[in-house]
Amino acid sequence: MDSLVQAASKARANAHAPFSGFKVGAALEAEDGRIYTGCNVENATYSLTICAERVAVFKALSEGARKFRRMAIVADTPSPTPPCGSCRQILWEFCGDVEVILANLEGKAESLRLSDVFPRPFDASYL
Ligand code: THU
Repeated sequence: MDSLVQAASKARANAHAPFSGFKVGAALEAEDGRIYTGCNVENATYSLTICAERVAVFKALSEGARKFRRMAIVADTPSPTPPCGSCRQILWEFCGDVEVILANLEGKAESLRLSDVFPRPFDASYL
């Protein structure tokens, strides 16, 4: 299994998902090879819940990383789970058109580019 998928899978074990029971792990690889992981963290208000992907991006940014190569996302679904709309926007803004690897716990994986699932994004070029 790809080491980035492995890292996302390991991060998934830390997911705090008492409300949905849906655990997600993410791992973001920076240009220098460092890997930043994240899991979803839910909140009793529901709306303050944050997805695994955004936790990984914000961790990376807060540690000074700015250029990224790939993100892996792991969930326990028959068909690998794609990132939600909010995460697509954040990924586009901070990571650009990175490779996104969607994988499940059985090792089924598919690789795509962010622009495949997020065509015609709004970004700072419109401001
Ligand atoms: N979730 C993620 O962490 N990433 C996704 O790509 C989809 C959804 C989380 C949010 C919430 O904690 C749970 O999965 C159910 O939506």
